[in-house]
Amino acid sequence: MDNLAIIGLQWGDEGKGKIIDYLAKEYDYIVRFQGGNNAGHTVNIDKREIIFHLIPSGALYSNKHLVIGNGVVVNPSVLLEEISSLRNMGIEPNLHISYRCHLIMPYHIAIDERREKTQKIGTTKRGIGPAYTDKIARCGIVLADLLDREEFEGKIRKNLEKEGISEFYPEKIADEYLLLFEKIKCFVCDTRVLLNKAILEKKSILFEGAQGTLLDVDFGTYPYVTSSNPTIGGICTGTGIPPKYIDNTLGVMKAYSTRVGEGPFPTELKGDIGNGLRIKGKEYGATTGRPRRCGWLDIPTIKYSCEINGVTSIAITKLDVLDKLPSIKVCTKYKIKGEIFEEIPQSIVNWDEVEPLYEEFTGWMEDTQNIKKKEDLPKASRVYIDKIMEMIGISVSIISVGSERNQTIEVE
Ligand code: GDP
Ligand code: IMO
Ligand code: MG
Repeated sequence: MDNLAIIGLQWGDEGKGKIIDYLAKEYDYIVRFQGGNNAGHTVNIDKREIIFHLIPSGALYSNKHLVIGNGVVVNPSVLLEEISSLRNMGIEPNLHISYRCHLIMPYHIAIDERREKTQKIGTTKRGIGPAYTDKIARCGIVLADLLDREEFEGKIRKNLEKEGISEFYPEKIADEYLLLFEKIKCFVCDTRVLLNKAILEKKSILFEGAQGTLLDVDFGTYPYVTSSNPTIGGICTGTGIPPKYIDNTLGVMKAYSTRVGEGPFPTELKGDIGNGLRIKGKEYGATTGRPRRCGWLDIPTIKYSCEINGVTSIAITKLDVLDKLPSIKVCTKYKIKGEIFEEIPQSIVNWDEVEPLYEEFTGWMEDTQNIKKKEDLPKASRVYIDKIMEMIGISVSIISVGSERNQTIEVE
């Protein structure tokens, strides 16, 4: 089995969790490589909903190796909560966590909240940005630091002093984190060694992207982005696996667009249609519960995301959410200062100047939720999908028509 990367092509929440759960049965290892518990990956089985924040979304199969690679920032108390909720379901996760993972500390969460007051990004307030900031500034604290209490406490003290934060006590944080560490240290190892050994043994790996390409710190709608690389390169830096072992890339996209938090969104619909998509699509954040902004599909951004990630096939999700719309628009081009672009322009886009140009499609006005084969989908929905794929230049391999695992159509 070839190794597969699953990457979000929009602003996150594309339905990666559902697709990863669906495909995970075929893979030996499911690997998170970036982000932290800003992610909310929803899996629905038999009307039960499970939301993963840190543990890979393949956890519902009993025999999978679940890896949290070095590129992930870990909040140990969130991790423990997730482990215990899996145990409550009778699942003992076979976890492997890199000792190089940077820790999210209580003061990171406080800094995240404080920064939101002056530089509003609309973050998840989980301390993600400040934890990655410390990593890059070379003052971060990694899981391995918990092996030496004195060192650990010293690093916390230094960081608190540097930030001028007085409401936290290094001893108290050290006590709390060491207690948490006792409960997770059995999972901590060198995941790079583990994964490269797995490759030599011809085991198969599924890489689970969190967030989406347009939230990438390098390629997203900066500064309205997250602080990691959800794009393909994040796999190499976030696991220690060389690029030659990433065989295929499945891009996940919704049949329309959503975004949580601030930042540009050219095809956003602020009126009734947008509200309708939010209601029908249950577009509320899986991590924060915030209403997601909704809009039409934006092809120039999808093409851009496919190019960056070398997408080899596409999973389109939430087709059913469009079932009752008499007409559906798709942004096919951008008009910027009178000039037409089919793809995002090379230079940095001034997003305020982007005028989306639309192509209109006839809706199908039929339920798709119980359909199992592409050829049984309403004709107008097949036209919608085929046209989109033609514009993107990549073929569709999965069509999702509902949140349940079995509401998934595989395309030859
Ligand atoms: P992720 O972050 O990419 O894993 O996506 P989220 O889990 O945050 O958000 C996707 C939401 O859409 C979840 O509530 C899923 O249960 C739901 N979902 C996924 N695929 C489909 C689909 O095909 N149809 C519908 N109606 N819901 C879906
Ligand atoms: P999944 O993996 C959607 C957004 C936040 C904010 C920006 C920065 O479920 O697709 P952060 O807390 O990361 O510093 O916030 O990124 N964001 C997400 N939006 N899905 C996510 O994850 C997200 N993770 C972060 O809303 O705009
Ligand atoms: Mg999500």
